[in-house]
Amino acid sequence: MRAIGIERFGDTPQLKELPVPEPGGGQVQVAIEAAATNPLDLAIASGALAALGEYRFPLTLGMDGAGTVTAIGDGVTEFRVGDRVFGQFWSQPLQFGTFAEVCTVQAVPAFGALAATPDELPSEVAAALPTSGMTALGAIEHMRVPEGGTLLVIGATGGVGTFAVQAAAARGIRTIATASAQTAEQVRELGAIEVVLRGAEPLDLALRRLAPEGVDAILDVVGDRSVTTSLADAVLDGGALFSTAFGLDDQLLANERIRTANYRLDRKPDRLAELTRLATAGTIRPVIGATLPLEETPRALAGDVEVTGLRGKTVLKVR
Ligand SMILES: NC(=O)c1ccc[n+]([C@@H]2O[C@H](COP(=O)([O-])OP(=O)(O)OC[C@H]3O[C@@H](n4cnc5c(N)ncnc54)[C@H](OP(=O)(O)O)[C@@H]3O)[C@@H](O)[C@H]2O)c1
Repeated sequence: MRAIGIERFGDTPQLKELPVPEPGGGQVQVAIEAAATNPLDLAIASGALAALGEYRFPLTLGMDGAGTVTAIGDGVTEFRVGDRVFGQFWSQPLQFGTFAEVCTVQAVPAFGALAATPDELPSEVAAALPTSGMTALGAIEHMRVPEGGTLLVIGATGGVGTFAVQAAAARGIRTIATASAQTAEQVRELGAIEVVLRGAEPLDLALRRLAPEGVDAILDVVGDRSVTTSLADAVLDGGALFSTAFGLDDQLLANERIRTANYRLDRKPDRLAELTRLATAGTIRPVIGATLPLEETPRALAGDVEVTGLRGKTVLKVR
């Protein structure tokens, strides 16, 4: 089968011909129809997350995907052959990712989450949901922004950002978002009430203009610590400043006036279930900036993808 993988940490991901993996006990084999990239994929390939778990090589990359169960191992009760499934396919040990024609995954992934794909969701849509969508929902929930409260999203045009703007709007949160001039209108359509044009004006000044009384929360997905530090004073007492990109330094993390966190995605099965509900209801949809064939995955991972509007998610069509 065709798969995108590495032989060792530090390799550049490449198209390979690999044997089809067979499911072991507690695992399902899935014919992948669509997958989607995340910054996590390159972090895994680089070895930056080597201490987090066990990895086996050759390692097929890819966390997010959707497809159909083609075989099940002993003891699997959650799924049957023929079921459509999607999620974050993060088994332990990790060897068989979603950037492949066939993948195996624990029916209850040790580090990820797997769910039945609702009939309403095509595989390309389902594959674009898991990691970014779950992260946005988790961060918004933990920040506890009240209905009618104000949130700033720094980096609203990518995976997590496009979901965060929608998730906040669904909770009645007034969202200010950063975007480029080309994408500002689309970010408003996702639910932002104000857009700060990237690079046009220092963010702290823009925020003082748009929310002179302060904001209830800031969600950063970009990771520029000088920016998060410059904005902390704009958060109201007891409010929240979170980053999904390790954008908070130790000083900010020790701040006692506001709640701060370098947020790491938690409670994945619950979040995938909530995401499924919201996506099925049409409350949240993935923004798919580009769709490429599987063999173009190395280019997608390198960020070498032309998008005309919002970057959102890059989807890989596998079959
Ligand atoms: N902690 C966790 O559990 C967790 C989970 C998921 C993701 N993450 C992390 O969260 C971050 C975002 O993930 P993602 O999937 O959303 O990545 P992404 O799809 O690459 O999106 C990042 C977005 O930020 C924009 N951006 C870059 N520099 C900017 C700047 N200076 N000002 C405003 N916007 C800027 C990018 O726009 P352009 O592409 O146009 O430059 C892009 O749209 C990554 O660091 C990822 O590793 C963490």
